[in-house]
Amino acid sequence: MSQSGFQLSGNAAAIYEDQKVPAMFGPLADATLNVVTLFNDDIVLDVACGTGIVARKVRDKIDSASRIAGVDLNEGMIATARLITEDFDPPIRWEVADATKTPFKDGEFTVVFCQQGIQFFPDDQVAVVEMRRVLRKGGRVAITVWAGVSPFFRALADAIERHVDADAAEQSLAPFSYNGAERLPSILAAAGFRDVKVETITVNRVIADPSTSIPKEIMGNPVGPTVDAKGIAVMNAIVDEVRLDCLRFERGNELVVPQEAHPVTAVAV
Ligand SMILES: C[S@@+](CC[C@H](N)C(=O)[O-])C[C@H]1O[C@@H](n2cnc3c(N)ncnc32)[C@H](O)[C@@H]1O
Repeated sequence: MSQSGFQLSGNAAAIYEDQKVPAMFGPLADATLNVVTLFNDDIVLDVACGTGIVARKVRDKIDSASRIAGVDLNEGMIATARLITEDFDPPIRWEVADATKTPFKDGEFTVVFCQQGIQFFPDDQVAVVEMRRVLRKGGRVAITVWAGVSPFFRALADAIERHVDADAAEQSLAPFSYNGAERLPSILAAAGFRDVKVETITVNRVIADPSTSIPKEIMGNPVGPTVDAKGIAVMNAIVDEVRLDCLRFERGNELVVPQEAHPVTAVAV
């Protein structure tokens, strides 16, 4: 698990929503929802919801009167999720809390999602026990994690190592540091889940207009402020080197970078 966690500051949650959600986390949420059957009466929790893309996609997919909640440790993420959904009726319930200790009742939900969050938790086993606690018997969990480092982030980490340092490069790779396909089956079984399935999906990260989007990708990553502090010349050099390294993914004025992920699903006993 990452020691550095995934915490964004300043207006990074807004940048995350504008850049990373359309480029990656929205398409990834669609792909995850394709492997989970949802019903109109489901009561759904999005753990480590960020700006709430999974919760919002669930609302689009099932009855919009359904009960949906999202929880995240980061106040900026939750503030952005609240702002985006302020007109929703009924509202999505947003809470700021650690995934290992949420404010929800036992058995309150029928489905729990956790998309690209578990690798940042202080204790993944405690977090999975907490997911089981808030699920009723027969409820489903879907935990989505990356399957290896994306080639785009490998190129980015290499450039950051050249222009900043090895610690910053390692921090930029934190999202890919968790081997969920190996860890999660036994953790889920021990927490009271059965029928554990590890699937593999490929989602394209589409980086439109790379010269303006790559800096946003960097600023929507926890390593952003460290790179930014090095000044504009360093930022520009990193962007140029990432583009060069990713030439094979160029399609017109976009980079289209395939990235594998594992949705890991299970049923609460
Ligand atoms: C890569 S983002 C994913 C957000 C969202 N699930 C999505 O798909 O866009 C990781 C999220 O995990 C959250 N997070 C990190 N540690 C956490 C913890 N201990 N408890 C709850 N959320 C946490 C971060 O604040 C961040 O919003």
